[in-house]
Order: sequence, then structure tokens, then C-alpha cells
Amino acid sequence: MRARKIIIDTDPGQDDAVAILLALASAELDVLGITTVAGNVPLPLTSKNARVVCELAGREDVRVFAGCDRPMARKLVTAEYVHGKSGLDGIALPDPTMPLAEGHAVDFLIETLREEAPGTVTLCPIGPLTNVATAFLRAPDIVPRVAEIVLMGGAYFEVGNVTPAAEFNIYVDPEAADIVFKSGVPIVVMPLDVTHKALTTRARVEAFRALGTPVGHAVASWTDFFERFDMAKYGSEGAPLHDPCVIAYLLEPDLFTGRHVNVEIEVKGELTLGMTVADWWRVTGRPANAMFMGGIDAGGFYALLTERLARL
Ligand code: BDR
Ligand code: CA
Repeated sequence: MRARKIIIDTDPGQDDAVAILLALASAELDVLGITTVAGNVPLPLTSKNARVVCELAGREDVRVFAGCDRPMARKLVTAEYVHGKSGLDGIALPDPTMPLAEGHAVDFLIETLREEAPGTVTLCPIGPLTNVATAFLRAPDIVPRVAEIVLMGGAYFEVGNVTPAAEFNIYVDPEAADIVFKSGVPIVVMPLDVTHKALTTRARVEAFRALGTPVGHAVASWTDFFERFDMAKYGSEGAPLHDPCVIAYLLEPDLFTGRHVNVEIEVKGELTLGMTVADWWRVTGRPANAMFMGGIDAGGFYALLTERLARL
């Protein structure tokens, strides 16, 4: 079977790091490149962290392109309070030796989508959507060439994690999200409704540690670090591993359930800026533009993740 070509657009972030590792561990996926964006922490740190993760996986060959350093129309909002000052707090890893790839992430997205056969490249955004939206605005010809966008972002029944109404990735750059959701590209959304059901437990974290590898140790240490925030906030047993849900969907789509519905982004609301208004009950008559997930087989997800991380 031919490996599926993907580009991971990311703002690492511990859960982004686990998503990258899951992709690099999976032969079904051909990671054409990693593009970084400002989000959890500023761009210089997300660009550094993406390379730290590639080196942890022994994959210095993966090209990492730095992208947009701020949202399209707003001031950058970051999340050090969740991810720590470095964005990857929890374990001290060596600074990367691999250089950034030459060129801007947006140019890489445009060039790659023009070079590869139409309908063969899947975009996997797991941070704010600034790079993808900027590429779509600058080169509209690439939009119909995208096979699919599978993204982490938004929330409906679970409402917000950064405001009462909005999820972080969409809130940071709502104008970018609006462009992407209106693009006409087939979209699969992993919102908080799903990721808040993909919680770590002691047993799941210890299973990572028990791999006995540098990757297993790092993933357990990262998880231990960011668990503290969600456990204090939600009183939950563990923390959601948001971003790996995107990669897990590519590997085992049957782990997830959802509905093909209309999703609009609130770009004006004073109280609801960045909300993903998902027409879950199909009450508006607006055309469906996204597969909005709601359920996950969490046991199956963690089994897949642990089995794949063991390969690194
Ligand atoms: C999303 O925001 C970031 O903090 C995480 O990496 C994830 O992509 C969850 O709201
Ligand atoms: Ca992220």
C-alpha cells in the first residue's frame, strides 16, 4: 500500500509533539514536511520544538519549515500556562542540531500542493490555522488540490477551553479558521468534544514509560507535566491528548464517530469570538462543510498510540 502524504502544521506543545511522533512511527504515513506556526508559544520556540521532536525520533531527515509568527488580523495569544515556558516543559531535551529547512512554510505548502498530484496531499493542522489560510489566500489554485484537511480545533457541546465559548486553536486566529472552513476542502474536525474523552490515566502514562525508550520516557514526562493543568481545572483523572487524535484518525478512522454538518466560525462576537458554531442538530439548512467528530474509543486510541510509539 502507498503511504498517505501528509503535512503536519503545528505549534509544539507537548500534545503536538506526541502527534508528530505518532506520525513518524507510522509507515502508512509519508510526512512530506512539518510547518510551524505561532500558537502555544511564539514561532521561534515552536520551530525549535518541532526539530527537537524529530531528533528524538531519530528523523533529522524530516524538513521543518517556519511559518507565520502571528495571526492574520490579531495579536498573538499564547498558552505557556498550559505547556510551560518552552512549550515542551516536562523533560530537558538537547537543543536541535538539524537546521530549519530553507524557505517559508506558506511557500512550502503552496509549492508542494502544486507539485504533487491533485488530491494526494492531506493537511493536518494541529495549531492555529494561520499558515494554511495564508497559503489559500495567496494561491487559490492550491485549494482544490488538497485531498483533505484533518484538524484539531473547536468545540461544541464541550464549549471552550480558552474562553467560555472558544477552543484555543480557533480562538487564536479566527479569521484564518473562517477561511479554511469556507474553503470547500473536505474537513474532518477533532474538537474538544472528542479530545476531552481521550484522557490520560496513570496506567496509560505508565504504559508509555514502560516502553523503556527515550521516546516513551519523554512522552510520559510531557504528559505528567501538562496533566497538572487539566486535572486542576476540570477535576479529571488525567489530561486530554488533543493533537494525536488527528493522526490516529488517519490510521484508524473507525476509532471516531461524528456527523457531517455545517460549521461556521464566529469572527465578530464579543463573548463568542472563535466559537465553532456546529449545526449538530441540522437546524439551519446551511450546507455541511465538515465531519465534526464527537466520539472516540479512548482505549483503542491509547492502545494504538502506545503500540506505535514502541516502534521509535
Ligand atoms: C489545542 O491547543 C493547544 O494548546 C494544544 O496543542 C491543542 O492543539 C487544544 O485546545
Ligand atoms: Ca497544538
